Parts: sequence; C-alpha cells; structure tokens
Amino acid sequence: MQEARGAYVWDLDGDKYVDYVGAWGPLVLGHGDPRVLSAVSDVAKRMQVVGTGHRLEYLAAEAVLEAVPHGERLLWSNTGTEAVQVALRLARAATGRRRVLKFAKSYHGWHDTVYAGMSEDDCDRPAAPGGAGQSTSVLDDLVVARFNDVRLAERLLGEAVERDIAAVLVDPVMSNAGVEAPSPEFLSTLRTLCDRHGVVLVFDEVIAGFRIARGGAAEKYGVLPDLSVFGKAMAGGFTQSAVVGRAELVDQVTAGVVHAGTFNANPIALAAVEATMRALADPSVYKLLEQNSSEFEALVGGALASCPGSGRFNRVGSLLQYVPAGGATGLHGTGGIWTTILEGMLRRGFLFMPSGKVFVSTAHTTADIEATAEALDRLLRTS
Ligand SMILES: Cc1ncc(COP(=O)(O)O)c(C=O)c1O
Repeated sequence: MQEARGAYVWDLDGDKYVDYVGAWGPLVLGHGDPRVLSAVSDVAKRMQVVGTGHRLEYLAAEAVLEAVPHGERLLWSNTGTEAVQVALRLARAATGRRRVLKFAKSYHGWHDTVYAGMSEDDCDRPAAPGGAGQSTSVLDDLVVARFNDVRLAERLLGEAVERDIAAVLVDPVMSNAGVEAPSPEFLSTLRTLCDRHGVVLVFDEVIAGFRIARGGAAEKYGVLPDLSVFGKAMAGGFTQSAVVGRAELVDQVTAGVVHAGTFNANPIALAAVEATMRALADPSVYKLLEQNSSEFEALVGGALASCPGSGRFNRVGSLLQYVPAGGATGLHGTGGIWTTILEGMLRRGFLFMPSGKVFVSTAHTTADIEATAEALDRLLRTS
C-alpha cells in the first residue's frame, strides 16, 4: 500500500480498497484520525525521545487509567508482546511461582514463553512450541487449558500450588482464535479460582481493549482482573502498549522487578495515546462503532446467510471472525470458502485478512458496508 486514510487504503497502482484489515486492530477511529495526527506532529517538532520523565507520561497514563475499571497503576511498553512479558514477570515476582496457565489456540505475542500450546491437543499436556527455532526449555512454564471449559480450569487451578501456577493469562474474547465470547460463568469462575488459589489473573486485551468497550473486557463482562495488557487501539496507529492494574503488583518495578526499554513511553507514542484515549472518551464513538459493526453483521453476514453452506460471522463488538459452515478448520477459525471470498473481494476493492478476522472502525460508513454486502452477494452468486 502507499496510502491509508479513514476506512480506505490505496495500493501502488492507486487502486482504492475499503479496509477491513485495520492494521490488525489498532484503528478503532480509522487511519489518520486528525486529532491523533495533530497531537503527534506537535510533539514531534519539540522532542522525539528523551530518556527522562516528561509530562505526557502522566497525561497519557491518566487518560488510560480513567477508562479502565481496575486501573490503579500503569507501565508503558512498546508492543503487546513486551507488555505480556512484563505482566507475567510481575505475577511471578508476586507469587514466587513459575508457571502460567494459558488457553489453547490463544495468541499472546510471538515470544518463546507464550507462543506455544496453540492446539487443543496441548490441553493439560506438555505444550508444543508454536513455530520453529523456539526454545523448548521454557515450554514447561506453561499449563494449557481450554477456553470456556470451566471444569478443566477448576481442576488445574485447584492444583495451583502443586503445579506452581503464578498466573492465568486469558484473552477474554479469543481474538485470534475464532472470536469467541466467554460463557457467562467463565471469567467470573477464573476470578474466583485465582483469588482462592493465590494466582494472578491477567487479561490480554491487546486486541479487545478499547475496542469491545471503552473499558475493555472488564467493563463489558464485569470481571476485574489483577492486570490487563493493552496495545493496538490505545495509540490510534502508533506503537505503544501498557500493563495496567493493581498498585501492589505494578509497584514491584520499584522493588526488584526489572522492566526496561529505550523507547518505552516515548513522547510521540504517548501523544498518540493521549489524543486517542481522549477521543475514545466520547460515548458516541462506541455507539457508532456498535452501529457499524452490527450493520456489517446484518448486511455482509446476511449475504453469507443467503448462500447456504457459505458460513457466518462471529462477532464481539467491532471484532468479527468468519466461521465456515460446519465449524472452523484452521487455527484462526478460517477454512470453508474464505480464500474465495478473500481473493474475490480483493479484486472488487475490499481488503480482508487471510485469517478471516474483520476489524470495523468508526470511519466505515453505511455506504461502505452496503457496498461490501452487495459485492459479496455478487461474488457468491458467480463463484
Ligand atoms: C491478543 C494479543 N496479545 C498480544 C499480541 C502481541 O502484540 P504485538 O503484535 O503488539 O507484539 C497480539 C497481537 O496481535 C494479540 O492479538
């Protein structure tokens, strides 16, 4: 691509696409929101990275903490992968335990310690690495459970002391593995079990945060974790992540827990965070996001439904996932006719992700969504 604005991207030939990739999550407000760009260009002329304290560290932190129900303290990092590592380090330091319970198929960044246990075959078994070149010596740090399987969580966490479990790491909506809403009792049971067995509950909200609700999963599902990891949507298209949560956990960075990074809290990214979070504080943003997302589900999902056997979309807020008829065949929930849709829609000027995930933004218009549905309808009738 050579250019991206609002809900659109332009390729090297100058062809325009309606963009549902949304940079894989950060663009709740679409590409190049003027408030974010103006805040960034303003600070970029004054300073870029200073390696000392600056006002935006506090202003941006206040803007984030205001939105997050359990937001007592915050640490800045660059990427979601880094922030997950910080959260796990805080949990290990607080509990004196080593292992992390994660859920099969769930993605928490590409680091050796969490990019493993990607298959349901790994449940309550030694975790397999997610890819080649990874260290196998860290795999024993993981205990793998199944999302929405309350019984298995009860059994594994009931042995938290014997199994040396420091943290439960959960993406509350399985953003990268089919977009699955938690069952009504799942997150609250994890909360109860973590309290009972002295385990730190960490929500990985790198995709869900500030997208499924302003206050993320804690606001949407009413369950407060000890720590949340945020990234993507927080900085409106710039690079920034954060660990947010209980003061006694986060404050361990002043008492022996190391958290470092040259570009953590750089002014440019934090100008983007402050401007984005102030924009997201307007409730009309989430009304519009919900309206656009439900329109997508009704119209584009309707086009799928009118062609029997072509699949459907799972939706949690503005995050959707194509699911083939008869269930998912791929890790991300893809399979079915998604490749036909992906390629056919690309040729018609609509950009989707190979994984079948769909990111809707406030920049999409009803006309964009109607045009998407019409194009899909024509594609399904001719293929
Ligand atoms: C749920 C989740 N956690 C963590 C990450 C890692 O974030 P990053 O790509 O910024 O390192 C991602 C990235 O897609 C994610 O979706």
